[in-house]
Order: sequence, then C-alpha cells, then structure tokens
Amino acid sequence: MSLLLSSGVAGICDGQGVADIDQEAVDACWTAEDLAFHCHTRERMIDLFCDQSQQKLIEKQQFPAKHQRIILGSAALPKPSRINHNLSFFQVVRERKTIRVYQEQPINAGLLSDFLWHSMHIREEILCDPALSRAYSGLLRPVASAGALHSIELYLCINRCIGLQPGFYHYDSFNHSLGKLSDLSEVCVQMLEQAAASTCRAPQAASVSSGQGQLPDVLVVMAARYGRNASLHQQTGLSYALILKDVGSIYQQLYLVATALGLAPCGLSFGDSELFEQASGLSDRLECSVGEFMIGNPPSTHAFDPSTAVLA
Ligand SMILES: Cc1cc2nc3c(=O)[nH]c(=O)nc-3n(C[C@H](O)[C@H](O)[C@H](O)COP(=O)(O)O)c2cc1C
Repeated sequence: MSLLLSSGVAGICDGQGVADIDQEAVDACWTAEDLAFHCHTRERMIDLFCDQSQQKLIEKQQFPAKHQRIILGSAALPKPSRINHNLSFFQVVRERKTIRVYQEQPINAGLLSDFLWHSMHIREEILCDPALSRAYSGLLRPVASAGALHSIELYLCINRCIGLQPGFYHYDSFNHSLGKLSDLSEVCVQMLEQAAASTCRAPQAASVSSGQGQLPDVLVVMAARYGRNASLHQQTGLSYALILKDVGSIYQQLYLVATALGLAPCGLSFGDSELFEQASGLSDRLECSVGEFMIGNPPSTHAFDPSTAVLA
C-alpha cells in the first residue's frame, strides 16, 4: 500500500470518497472521461521516427486517401467562380460571424460549389514521408490536416438549394461533384430539425428564444474515416484527438469561406451519430459523424456583401 501511495497510484479518500490525488481534478470539474482522454493524448511525446521496428505495417490499400462512395447518382456542381477576387482576407476575418437566420430565397448551386471548392476540394495527392518505410499517400486541400491525412469527409443534407434536388449527398472532393445517397428522407429531416433546435439559444441573445430555430438551407456533416487516421496513428493513440483537431480546422475554414461568399454560417456543438449512420448507410465504426455546420442565405440585414467590401 505504501508503495502505491508513494508512487501516486493510490490516494487517501476524504469523507466524500474523493482521493487526495484526484482533488485538484475534482475541484476543476474534470469528468473522468475527459481527463482520461486528455491524459492519453497529451501526456507523452511520441517520436514516430525513433523506433520504426515497433510500428505496425500499414495496410495502405485499405484506407486510400481518395474516398470513393457507392452513390445513387452524381450531381455536377457549377465550375467554381472567380468572383470576389478583390476581397481582402482581413475584411473577411473581421466580418466573420455566426448567422442563424435565413431569407426566403435559398442559396444556389453556384454558391454551394464555391463554398465546397474553397474549403475542401483536393488540390493534389502527394506521397508523405517518401524516405520512410511507412510512406503513405496524403492530400492537399485549401484546409490543413494533420499529416495531410484528411480523414474527414463532407456530407450534405440539402434542404433547399436552387439548382440541386433536396437530398443527402457525399461531396466528392476529387471530382468536385456531389454523389447522391438518398432523397430528403425522414432521417434527413430529423437531422435538419435537430440542427435548427440547437440554435435556439445563441450566447449573444439577450433572452432565450422558446421558438424553434430556422432550418438551414444546407446542413454540412463532417464524418471521420477513423481507420484512415489510425493507419498512421494507431501506435501513438492520437487518432481521435487529431480527428477533432482537424474538425476545428474545417470549422474555421467553412466560417471564413462562407463569410467571403456572403453566406450565413453556423457551427454546431451537437450531432447524432446514429442519425448519420442511418442517412449514410455506413457503420459508425467505418465513418462516424464528428461535426456539423449550417449554411443558408442570410437576410439582407445580416448579410455581408462581398461585392461592396472595402478595406477600412
Ligand atoms: C465548435 C462550435 C460549436 C458551436 N455550436 C453552436 C451551437 O450548437 N448552436 C449555435 O447556435 N451556435 C453554435 N456555435 C456558434 C457559436 O455560438 C458562436 O461562434 C459564438 O456565439 C460566437 O459568435 P460569432 O461566431 O458570431 O463570433 C458554435 C461554434 C463553434 C465553433
């Protein structure tokens, strides 16, 4: 027992059953799950290059960089336009904000195409760590990704968009097209409704709105191919942490691109993996939803008009 106590593995409990070694974490309100995740992913520095003999052989073919989905049909997206070229990056950064209301007229396929192109299209496929035995294929996109793995795919629940049928789609970031997976099913409507419901209480709002939030024109669902990330990070145990970091990077990219295009962007905290599983027809273990983002056409009172933007 004294060995366990002196090595910090065991502690002495107080009247509430809290061990002294856990006191700080309890006082700081850590949940056991979050603390375990934090410790697991932050407490050791792993050098992937130091001991390659310990690494599991990566089955590269199993998790290719480019992700092909079985689809019902493909919907072409308009060629990305070169409008808004005079827009200052710093103006976009200054104007970026969350907008949760939409006008009656929805967004159109041209804007959606630009939004996806400038956020997630594949610029290039590259060979990463070419000199090492673990060489693997990576991707370059407008958005950054740890290890160029890009294990996150975008799925779109299109509620309304001029020029595209409502439905559930996968974004083919290599061909810049949409692969249709289904019509706008009951499950899709539930996803849209859940998204809208989670916007009822904007932190900046003076009072809590009791009404339902507005349905977005498009709900973007980010889904992670865990195996693709684990094919590089199984040893480090960092896969899920890096997936979440990649999601953060994508959130900001979507916010900035949407702002530059004059769209209404809103990141979301809540999502239902089970609904995504039903809509996509994919097992949660193969691709799991890890982030949600709404876009729509903002009312003119909220809109940032990129064509009239001037640098102050
Ligand atoms: C990861 C993330 C999750 C968010 N979740 C929600 C949400 O569930 N509902 C919502 O209405 N807004 C959500 N937002 C938007 C934030 O509430 C918003 O960014 C914050 O209030 C600051 O406002 P601003 O974006 O206009 O600067 C989220 C933003 C991020 C980045």
